[in-house]
Amino acid sequence: MSQRPLNVGLIGGGGGAFIAVPHQRAIHFDGTRRVVAAALHPDPQIAMDEAENWAYPIKGYTSYDEMIAAEKAKPVGDRIDYALIVTPNHVHFDPAMKCLDAGIPVFCEKPLTVNLEQADALVAKVAETGLPFGVGHTYLGHWSSRFSRFIVQSGLLGEVRWADAYYLQGWLADRTEDMGVMQAEWRVDPKRAGGSNCGGDIGTHALMQLRYVTGLNVTSVNAILETFVSGRQLDDHFTTYCQLSNGAKALVRASQIAIGHKNDLGIEVNCSKGSLRWRQEEAEQVAISLPGQPERTYWRGDVKPNDGFLGDLPEDLMAEPTIPSGHVEAFHDAFARLHRSFEADVRAHLAGEPFSCDGSKYANVGDGRVGIAFIKAAVESSSQGGAPVPMP
Ligand SMILES: NC(=O)c1ccc[n+]([C@@H]2O[C@H](COP(=O)([O-])OP(=O)(O)OC[C@H]3O[C@@H](n4cnc5c(N)ncnc54)[C@H](O)[C@@H]3O)[C@@H](O)[C@H]2O)c1
Repeated sequence: MSQRPLNVGLIGGGGGAFIAVPHQRAIHFDGTRRVVAAALHPDPQIAMDEAENWAYPIKGYTSYDEMIAAEKAKPVGDRIDYALIVTPNHVHFDPAMKCLDAGIPVFCEKPLTVNLEQADALVAKVAETGLPFGVGHTYLGHWSSRFSRFIVQSGLLGEVRWADAYYLQGWLADRTEDMGVMQAEWRVDPKRAGGSNCGGDIGTHALMQLRYVTGLNVTSVNAILETFVSGRQLDDHFTTYCQLSNGAKALVRASQIAIGHKNDLGIEVNCSKGSLRWRQEEAEQVAISLPGQPERTYWRGDVKPNDGFLGDLPEDLMAEPTIPSGHVEAFHDAFARLHRSFEADVRAHLAGEPFSCDGSKYANVGDGRVGIAFIKAAVESSSQGGAPVPMP
């Protein structure tokens, strides 16, 4: 029997916002979730005007405080089933805490907060309330990320020795923040972005990809945060050398001054028996190198078990809704896969059933906290000339 669609409330999304747009498309991807309410903008009038003119009917609110109070007062079925927070980094903590206090599950954009104290408080609040909480590490939603995770963590390539996780962009190679680009303005402002611009914004994605694919944690960091564009207070280039929990090492690096690179997130994992390579700009493919053998390229939608390298494949991975290979899946599909997985946990929560929220299908609040701890360690290490700093 079909179920009612889940109701989603947006916090942020007006005034020419970026990431709210792919999110709300992905929410509607399956017809089992829909955006019904929103506090779109810090200016109450703009928030209401934009809600009135939204592409489909939604209930507009003048602020997220008003939305949370009004939605909390409604019965389940009428109220929002989860909130999506797509505001700049400094407006993550307050609405997330207020939603959790109101009993509303939260899907929050990364980086989770602007400091570790806030991240710790959110971890504690999620534990106290027992509510589903997701963090917007988009790229975990690619089928090929999940496949990469299976390959590395099932030991098919042996022990992880070295990894290079990177996210390279070129859009801040000039003073983009002076050109009326609001996305650049707040990212280079320490009050709104947190202790790191480049590391917090995209270094955390590279870190999450490393942790998700390898299952390893960073135990200590040597970092150099650099600012190539003059007049900026925060880094626009971020390089860390990391010790991993199994004794392996990794580079986690990011840049916004790498002209020519667009959203070049990728990972290479060198293991004792072979290597894996993946790039989000070619997210349909996972490349495997084994010594003395021709390169193997696995295409999403065309992976078969027991092919001489792969053994049996996990049922849940193979059962993921997907389309035939060659019909390209991309960014929106990745977001949809995250929302689909989050929806399952929210439905279980609503039914009073156990749910995992264990980080295997989307990043959780603990993953968000690791990202913030990583930034804190990296900023500290860089201020000491790249000295090793343990992960707090
Ligand atoms: N997962 C990803 O791939 C990805 C990509 C880009 C951005 N992000 C993250 O998403 C967040 C938003 O980034 P963006 O580039 O979309 O920013 P943006 O500047 O394009 O949009 C921010 C939105 O927040 C709204 N806003 C600000 N303060 C508000 C308030 N008090 N109440 C209601 N709305 C408010 C603005 O009106 C705007 O709609 C950031 O945390 C960023 O790090 C994630």
